[in-house]
Amino acid sequence: MIRAKILGLGSYVPDRVVTNDELRFLNPKHERQTEPQMDTSDEWIRKRTGIQERRYVPAGETWRTSDLGKLAAERALEDAGLEAKDIDCIIFGTLSPDIHFPGSAVFMQEKLGINSHYCACYDIRQQCSGFVYGLEMADAFIKAGKYKRVLLVGAEIHSHSLDYTTRGRDVTVLFGDGAGAVVMGPVETTDPREGVLYTRGHADGSGAWGLYLKIFDIGVHGMVDYDPKDREVNSTLYPQMKGKAVFMNAVKQMVAASKEALAATGLSWDDIDWFVPHQANLRINETVVQYGKIPPEKALNTIMFYGNTTAATVPLTIDHYRQEGKVKKGDLVLSTVFGAGFTWGSAVFRV
Ligand code: UT7
Repeated sequence: MIRAKILGLGSYVPDRVVTNDELRFLNPKHERQTEPQMDTSDEWIRKRTGIQERRYVPAGETWRTSDLGKLAAERALEDAGLEAKDIDCIIFGTLSPDIHFPGSAVFMQEKLGINSHYCACYDIRQQCSGFVYGLEMADAFIKAGKYKRVLLVGAEIHSHSLDYTTRGRDVTVLFGDGAGAVVMGPVETTDPREGVLYTRGHADGSGAWGLYLKIFDIGVHGMVDYDPKDREVNSTLYPQMKGKAVFMNAVKQMVAASKEALAATGLSWDDIDWFVPHQANLRINETVVQYGKIPPEKALNTIMFYGNTTAATVPLTIDHYRQEGKVKKGDLVLSTVFGAGFTWGSAVFRV
């Protein structure tokens, strides 16, 4: 039987560390000012979200999301012992694409030097659920014999599109820049616990306005000339969130999706090595662990160091703890994600 397997994993975060204290002093180009620009505090952010710091691309330099994706992808390829030319399909998950179109996958393909016309490029738009949705696609493609080497990347540059005034503080404090990647391929096995064991995506479009970023509204017009001081225009340019509704839905669906993954695979928490939830808020993950009856020592969190890197959080978290020696190759992970859409899902796989 052909199953899909993770052959290599890698991540990349920019070197620039932005602490909660420093965040208060940033202007719209995230350059440090002498006076605070946002009314928030390290204490509030730590207490309500668990975040201590996040990474941003350097201010004043030109970084695009495909650049971060490429750096994570190169590490995943090295980990897999493969070269970029071996890849025949790219799936790129992001909510902060390089430009409106074409998608970021083709930009990254070019940067990786993949000149073959036989590498398909997909961009997917499932925000914080991007990794699990992408894993589901890669798993299906590989099992069907469609592609042999799939590069799945989650990457985000949030720092360029956040509101650094008090008006945007509920959202801005949460997000960071970063990327994670896995390389996947087929394995011939009779072992049902090999490779990717389970994936399931869910969505509920009635939650679409619970968390969104417009940039433009095709039903009205594109935003070319704008004045960010104008309240209406400002709300188009920056992410908008009904924080409490998102929080409550995230807890409910992440608990349900985790239980669903166990029921579908017939596994228990004794069989799973690590629980890797999406990293949106430490309080969400702690509540999911509590209500989901998940062994707390198996839950891995990195939101303290990176904030919410959206489509990148799952591979970034696994790679972080793999580099620390905690997660080992072959360990079994149950991952559960939730994000804008609303979209959510879970997956069980070996790393
Ligand atoms: O990635 C997937 C999607 N994202 C999420 O899952 C995030 C889900 N939501 C959350 O994590 C939380 O709702 C937040 C962290 C965004 C907000 O936490 P909260 O405990 O729900 O706070 P709140 O929105 O009820 O606000 C409480 C107070 C308000 O002040 P008043 O009206 O009580 O005077 C806010 O204005 O906290 C204020 N506030 C802040 N104060 C300092 C909101 N953001 C900040 C801030 N610093 N950054």
